[in-house]
Amino acid sequence: MQGKTLVISGATKGIGKAIAYRFAQNGCNVAFTYNSNEEEAKKIADDLEATYKIKARYYPLNILEPETYKDMYKLVDEDFDRVDYFISNAMIYGRAVVGGYGKFMRLRPRGLNNIYTATVNAFVVGSQEAAKRMEKVGGGSIISMSSTGNLTYIDNYAGHGTNKAAVETMVKYAATELGDMGIRVNAVSGGPIDTDALKAFTNYEEVKAKTASLSPLNRMGAPKDIAGACLFLCSDEASWITAQTLVIDGGTSFQSAC
Ligand SMILES: NC(=O)c1ccc[n+]([C@@H]2O[C@H](COP(=O)([O-])OP(=O)(O)OC[C@H]3O[C@@H](n4cnc5c(N)ncnc54)[C@H](OP(=O)(O)O)[C@@H]3O)[C@@H](O)[C@H]2O)c1
Repeated sequence: MQGKTLVISGATKGIGKAIAYRFAQNGCNVAFTYNSNEEEAKKIADDLEATYKIKARYYPLNILEPETYKDMYKLVDEDFDRVDYFISNAMIYGRAVVGGYGKFMRLRPRGLNNIYTATVNAFVVGSQEAAKRMEKVGGGSIISMSSTGNLTYIDNYAGHGTNKAAVETMVKYAATELGDMGIRVNAVSGGPIDTDALKAFTNYEEVKAKTASLSPLNRMGAPKDIAGACLFLCSDEASWITAQTLVIDGGTSFQSAC
């Protein structure tokens, strides 16, 4: 991955940050986005460059306005001469998901639409812009983050779960139509991973304990568990893997109550 470039949304913390570090460790340059946390983005870019001797740059992006990906990629073009990997990772939370994160009877179109925009539309525009650049270098690899909340029930997760199912299907369509350009497209579907996003769940402690008890590995997931899967999917070791969802859930979704 030396001399190649990863573009990833939302790498100021959690899974995105772990992915940025894992790719940088492998010699890959990193272009990443932040939304509210510019100070942390700067710290991370400085640390990546100093520690791994790669190039790291950060850009503002709001995935509720997916078209702004086009402006972001223009800035990336000024800093990097190629794009090889794109990971659609960022996710909204807080006010933006009101009416989307909640019980079925409390779901409202605005909240659900916001989650669709941030999950599916952002993946589409970010991937289209990435694909134009990957085509010029003979191919690449695109990943959308997904979640096992579309396989098993998670409290209040109907809005996110349905949109993760939608993005997994969009991934398969993209993979089918971008294969001629040498671009592979896959989803990585995580079980509960210990990040700030999960801490925002009203029943975080319960989810944590339940996940550890359900997993044959007796623990919940860590951001680095997902980062390793992304690195593999972008590497040549995964050269015939496309249109797939790789489930990284510590074996939890296979378990039954009895
Ligand atoms: N945690 C889990 O259990 C889990 C499980 C399966 C899948 N996932 C998926 O993995 C991905 C990352 O989740 P995470 O848990 O690592 O989340 P996280 O720790 O909360 O990080 C979220 C990231 O998204 C950025 N962001 C927030 N609002 C944004 C907006 N409006 N526009 C652009 N960027 C925005 C944040 O940037 P700032 O800090 O700059 O605001 C931050 O970098 C998500 O797609 C999530 O659905 C998570």
